[in-house]
Amino acid sequence: MTQNLIDGKALADELRTAFKTRVAALAARGCRPGLAVILAGENPASQVYVRNKVSACEAAGIYSQKILLAADVSQETLLAKIAELNANPAIHGILVQLPLPRHIHEETVLEAISAEKDVDGFHAENVGALAQGNPRFIPCTPYGVMKMFEAHKVDWVGKEAVVIGRSNIVGKPMALLLINAGATVTVCHSKTRDLASHTRRADILVAAVGKPRFVTADMVKPGAVVIDVGINRLSPEEGGKLCGDVDFEAVKNVAALITPVPGGVGPMTITMLLANTIEAAERRMGA
Ligand code: GUN
Repeated sequence: MTQNLIDGKALADELRTAFKTRVAALAARGCRPGLAVILAGENPASQVYVRNKVSACEAAGIYSQKILLAADVSQETLLAKIAELNANPAIHGILVQLPLPRHIHEETVLEAISAEKDVDGFHAENVGALAQGNPRFIPCTPYGVMKMFEAHKVDWVGKEAVVIGRSNIVGKPMALLLINAGATVTVCHSKTRDLASHTRRADILVAAVGKPRFVTADMVKPGAVVIDVGINRLSPEEGGKLCGDVDFEAVKNVAALITPVPGGVGPMTITMLLANTIEAAERRMGA
C-alpha cells in the first residue's frame, strides 16, 4: 500500500463506530434519527448514491425513508412531499438527490427544505451561515475532506490551498471551509487561464472537476496534500473502472498525502451525511 495514502474507508469506519454512542444516547431518550432521501428520475449514478446512503443509515441505526419519484414528477408534487417531510417529527434530515430533472427549479426545491432538516447544507440560510464562519450544516463532501485533514494533522493555517471546481456542492463550500480555517484559498475552474501555474503553488490541492486523471504530476507541487473528489467511470475500452480527477499512479510519487479513488473521499461523504443527520436529531432533542 502507498505510504502516503489518506484511507477514507478506514477513517469513515472509525467515525461511524463513534456515531453508535450518539445514536444509543438518543435511543435512550426515545429518539431515533431519521433521514428522508428523495430521488426524482432514474439517473443511474444517483440511484447508486441513494442506495448507498440508505444502507449506510441502516447500518448506523438511523431510520431512513427512500422516496422515489418519476422523472416527469411535477415541481408541485415534489414541493408537497418536502412540506410533508418538513412536518414529520420522525424525520430529522431531508436530502434531495441532485441533479434534478431539467424541468424542476433546483433552487426553489432546496429552499423549500426546512433549514433545520437541511443535512446537505444547501439551503441559502446554511450556505450563509457557513460563509459567515458560523456553520450549522456543512455540505457532506467538503466536511469529509476537512475531517481527513484533521485526522492527518494537516496544518492549513497560512497555507496555499487551491480548489479546482466551483460547484455549490463541493468547490464553493470547500473554499469557504478552508478560508475559515485560515488557508489562503484560490478557486480555479474551467475558465481559469494557465491552471497549472495555480495548482503548482498549492500546499493543499482539492480536485473536483469531473474529468478522469485531469490533474497530472507536473501540476502538483512536491510535498502537497492532494484530495481527489472525482468519481468518474472509465469507458469499457479503458476498463470500465472508477477513476478520480487525479492521475493517482503518477501524482502519488509527488504528493506528501493523497486520497485514492475509490476508498478516499467517497466513504467520507456518506459518513458526514450520517453525522449531520445525528446532529439534526440531537439539536431537536436539545442535546
Ligand atoms: N449529487 C452529488 N453529490 C450530492 C450531494 O452531496 N448531495 C445531493 N443532494 N446530491 C448530490
